[in-house]
Amino acid sequence: MKGQFYIVGVGPGDPELMTLKAVRVLKKSPVWLAPAAHKHGCSTALSIASGVINGEEKEVLTHHFPMKKVHAGKPADPEVERAWREAAAIIAEHLENGRDVAFPTLGDPAIYSTGFYIFTTLMEVVKDMSFEIIPGVSAIGATSAAAGVPLCLGNERMVVIPATFEDDKLKRILSDFDCIVLMKVHRVMEKLITILEELELLDSTVLVEKTSLQDQRIRHDLKAAATEGIHYFSTMIVRKQ
Ligand SMILES: C[S@@+](CC[C@H](N)C(=O)[O-])C[C@H]1O[C@@H](n2cnc3c(N)ncnc32)[C@H](O)[C@@H]1O
Repeated sequence: MKGQFYIVGVGPGDPELMTLKAVRVLKKSPVWLAPAAHKHGCSTALSIASGVINGEEKEVLTHHFPMKKVHAGKPADPEVERAWREAAAIIAEHLENGRDVAFPTLGDPAIYSTGFYIFTTLMEVVKDMSFEIIPGVSAIGATSAAAGVPLCLGNERMVVIPATFEDDKLKRILSDFDCIVLMKVHRVMEKLITILEELELLDSTVLVEKTSLQDQRIRHDLKAAATEGIHYFSTMIVRKQ
């Protein structure tokens, strides 16, 4: 019998934010394949999981996925596609040999996670693949909790966007919605500050860096944050009063 594939959301950093189901599935899976942002680098998802589960008796693999933009509905960069295919081939071999494989992923698998690209690629190579996706606490909810700022109440409308996309769309979205969650902000802080200032939304914005981790920082002064430089794990909430 083939093994089962699991994409496991491990939450935003604090191991206590892993669900009971995530912990159970990771404990029972003999193979973990975790994403690493850098070649020979460590995997954040793996260190979160290792905060709760002893991975010593497991076959723990990491796989490097280049950090390049992927536009929905368009072919990805060949280097990125190759990384997905290589990871899928490694996972497929374990599944064909009857071993369950868990893919721990930061936050929730449904939100900007490599897990779904691997899943789609795997579906093409493993016939009748048995799988389960375990949702996790996203950085979105964790950022709201850390900042003490709700995301939507009553009839308010919320939107989540990656901050790295086109300025005109960004301005329109910032104008149209009541609450805007901006992810992937770390490289575009200057641009964001200019737009937020222009729309008089700077005072309605909070940025949380490394939400739920021990060195978490809640930043209301975005200009100071931009000058000091912020970590990739940073999420902004713009909530209109
Ligand atoms: C590739 S996305 C992954 C999102 C993840 N799947 C989730 O559900 O939170 C990476 C972005 O998530 C956000 N992020 C992830 N972990 C975070 C943390 N601990 N604190 C703040 N933002 C975080 C940042 O905006 C980062 O650029």
